[in-house]
Amino acid sequence: MSGPDLRRAAAARALDLVEPGMRLGLGTGSTAAAFVTLLGARVRTGLDIIGVPTSEATRAQAESLGIRLATLDEQPELDLTIDGADEVDPALRLIKGGGAALLREKIVACASHRMVVIADMAKRVDRLGAFPLPIEVNPFGLTATHRAVEAAVACAGCAGTVRLRRTSDGAPLVTDGGHHILDAHLGAITDPETLGAALWAVPGVVEHGLFLGIADAAILAFDRDGQADIT
Ligand code: 5RP
Repeated sequence: MSGPDLRRAAAARALDLVEPGMRLGLGTGSTAAAFVTLLGARVRTGLDIIGVPTSEATRAQAESLGIRLATLDEQPELDLTIDGADEVDPALRLIKGGGAALLREKIVACASHRMVVIADMAKRVDRLGAFPLPIEVNPFGLTATHRAVEAAVACAGCAGTVRLRRTSDGAPLVTDGGHHILDAHLGAITDPETLGAALWAVPGVVEHGLFLGIADAAILAFDRDGQADIT
């Protein structure tokens, strides 16, 4: 089965968790977009929910599908957030931010009673860190922050390089919040909690993509003899 088929299967299973009247956090990325598409179809047939999008891209998609939206200020307490992830470890620790939406994703997930990750099984890892860790930083003093992040990463026992994320035209990527992203290419993160704390201690770091103790469950789709199965 293709990646899109597996992502759609995970999204379809997550839709079973949605009940009328729920206040839903809507994630960002291709798997979350598959969920929003399915949700839009249910809304068209009468399901009444309110969605809080985690990015401008998700907002535009949900609006185009007629999903009723609110800001997190209007709905500061959510029932359920469904979002994708770049990596999921056995303790449900995540790396997120491949789509540069990690700040809003983390704020929305933490405002939710429950966060459920949807992904294909390729995102399941024994140890986080093969995927570069996104770190959202304020543009002011970028070079100094970049150096401080490199030092924090080394102090937390990780080796690797930290690179500014750029768009295809070479300009620094700007997030929905007006920040930049530093990607830490570490290969392996031995102690995510220590690394997360070290990054938070750096002035200029707005948020990092380690989601620790935030996800409640993961719906992971895999190929079993040509059919999508869920674990
Ligand atoms: C965006 C994210 C995404 O959830 C993550 O990158 C997974 O995306 P996809 O479902 O396209 O693989 O964290 O910031």
